[in-house]
Amino acid sequence: MRPPPELRVGIVGYGMMGRAHCYGYRIAPMLRALPVTPVAAVMSGRSGPGVAAAAAAYGVPEHTTDWRALVARDDVDVVDICTPPGTHSEIAQAAAAAGKAVLCEKPLALNYPEAVAALAAAESAGVHHAVGFNYRRLPAVALMRRMVADGAVGEVRLWRATWLSDEFTDPRTPYDWRFDRAMGGTTIADLGSHLIDMALWMAGGISGVCAQSATFIAERPLPGGPGGTRAVTVDDASGALLRFESGALGTIEVARAAVRRPCDFTVEVNGSRGTLVFDYARLNELRYGSADDDPGLYGMRRIRAEHPSHPYATSWWPIGQGVGYGASFGNQVADLLAGWPEAPWAPDFGQGAAVQAVCDAMEASAAQGRWVTVSEVTGAA
Ligand SMILES: NC(=O)c1ccc[n+]([C@@H]2O[C@H](COP(=O)([O-])OP(=O)(O)OC[C@H]3O[C@@H](n4cnc5c(N)ncnc54)[C@H](O)[C@@H]3O)[C@@H](O)[C@H]2O)c1
Repeated sequence: MRPPPELRVGIVGYGMMGRAHCYGYRIAPMLRALPVTPVAAVMSGRSGPGVAAAAAAYGVPEHTTDWRALVARDDVDVVDICTPPGTHSEIAQAAAAAGKAVLCEKPLALNYPEAVAALAAAESAGVHHAVGFNYRRLPAVALMRRMVADGAVGEVRLWRATWLSDEFTDPRTPYDWRFDRAMGGTTIADLGSHLIDMALWMAGGISGVCAQSATFIAERPLPGGPGGTRAVTVDDASGALLRFESGALGTIEVARAAVRRPCDFTVEVNGSRGTLVFDYARLNELRYGSADDDPGLYGMRRIRAEHPSHPYATSWWPIGQGVGYGASFGNQVADLLAGWPEAPWAPDFGQGAAVQAVCDAMEASAAQGRWVTVSEVTGAA
């Protein structure tokens, strides 16, 4: 049997996400029967030797230092943007104008107006568009969302999330784009955008936020050796109270300043009839308790999110083997391409812009020391 026709992808950026996305394209056809075979065909990056080495390691046959040349190629069907957020909107707009489908890493853009510009470009070109909110594609997170939608917790009343990392705790960590607000390196954008996506997806629209932020280490050494520092223009940590349009309350805390917390995120939903908890350190599980449970078994049960009835389970290993972070990238590609070319992609740039609006509201609230409504950012009546 011949494999389905190729869908050729140009990947812009060859860092951690360039690698993760290449992995996703490689494994997706092993997870599900797809109408096309995704092929990472060409990769771009600013450093010639760097992109050449990465392309060789990731099995990408061609590379270039010019992302515009990648976007212009007739033999590229999808442009996959894996560069810092400050570059996303321009590349997404150029890719859409060239008629390419666009997958863009999160956050969609540097700010809400840039996100809206990317959305408008994709819509007017009539191309597929999606944002890489990959954590949605972890089986337990997808199950959590399904259970909330199916009423397992009743009416959502409280939604809370934390994301703690120690990425910035060492003052010797050299400056890179993650310390640069102009490149979209804020902790709100980096970690917060994922959590806000999950909040909107599970609990609906957010109407207002009251946030605070702090930068604990104000300068970072320049990369490449002794001598010189550069001022940090991002938050090391932020937190916010959230008000949902439904009337539910929420909290969010994001930090890259938490010693010995590697990438610890948790999401908890408390509804009128139950509670669900996801803890990334145990990513194949959910904890669940219902008001309908036998009182003699008071507490929360541990659900193994690997049963064949659970999202993604039948694509993966037998129950008990579990999956990891990498699975989310294979699931992402399989989800996007399963209905190619008819089915629209999700989460799309509209969702990316909605997330961006909440991020911008958090930034404004922290800067101004007051509640900020999301409509102040979007201009919606
Ligand atoms: N979904 C996830 O789990 C996840 C995880 C990490 C990062 N991300 C997102 O992916 C994107 C890329 O992150 P990464 O961790 O791969 O970054 P990285 O630093 O590892 O790689 C960045 C890539 O972009 C290129 N680049 C282009 N313009 C640049 C500029 N002005 N400054 C710095 N690099 C530039 C670099 O050459 C490199 O190829 C970001 O939007 C980030 O928020 C997503």
